[in-house]
Amino acid sequence: MKLWIALLTGIWTLGAVAAGGPQYPLESMTPDYDDKTSLQRGLATYSHYCMGCHSLEYQRYERTATDLGIDPDVMTSALLPESKKIGDLGTIAMPATAAAEWFGAPPPDLTLVARKRSPEWVYTYMKTFYTDPTRPLGANNLVFPKVGMPHVLEPLQGVQRAVCKEAPVREGGQIKTDPISGNALTAEQCGVLEVVEGTGTLSAAEYDQLIYDLVNFLEYVGEPSKAQSHDLGIKVLLFIMLFFVFAYLLKREYWRDVH
Ligand code: HEC
Repeated sequence: MKLWIALLTGIWTLGAVAAGGPQYPLESMTPDYDDKTSLQRGLATYSHYCMGCHSLEYQRYERTATDLGIDPDVMTSALLPESKKIGDLGTIAMPATAAAEWFGAPPPDLTLVARKRSPEWVYTYMKTFYTDPTRPLGANNLVFPKVGMPHVLEPLQGVQRAVCKEAPVREGGQIKTDPISGNALTAEQCGVLEVVEGTGTLSAAEYDQLIYDLVNFLEYVGEPSKAQSHDLGIKVLLFIMLFFVFAYLLKREYWRDVH
């Protein structure tokens, strides 16, 4: 027993170390496969703002169209790149090696990102980009420090800046200065972000909704058959309940002669 406990604790600690220690607190979000309009809006945002850099190479356009209730012709004319057919996988033309040079790291395929990271992680990540002139592309992120991705949704969200509302704290005898606010803490340490008023086209609530839809879509792409499994599971349970009634009646019939 003791050995088991020791082994499990060991595995758990290793997991925590592999995950990179303490993490920025994630916001909660509950994906909803039944909300087809949200999934469709998420797909639209994805194709306009993400597909240039990130592939969805394990998913065919046709499958997305069928699951999300989109007419295949509308899908082809409005959302597919010109070179693509509806039966194709969501690969992209950007060469990975060149992209790694441009951004410091190649943009990874996003088919399974919500399963690898969690929907909460992707949701919070998309909301915590902030301006940081010390980074090559001028953007940093609280969930993914020193990220290579630029803040592609900045025109919608607005310019987000790191501010420190708390009094400066001396850490290890050294005071660091935030390059933007001039305060003595880095954004990672104080973790307060503020959108500069009037710099984005969406309100805070609209931006949250946009990111919710986007992450809902990415969660769907990571496990497209989940909605079907859910429906099927309910049908199977109903069948078992109904079957139980008949099985019980049959049992009573058999045992009537024995008693
Ligand atoms: C200009 C190219 C570009 C665009 C457009 C872009 N990204 Fe990225 N993205 C990147 C790069 C580069 C990385 C890798 C960053 C790194 O490893 O430092 C990345 C990383 C990510 C990651 C982290 C993946 C992981 O598990 O490490 C997520 C999630 C992500 N992008 C989502 C999105 C979404 C959603 C959109 C559309 C709104 C988008 N990206 C648009 C370049 C881009």
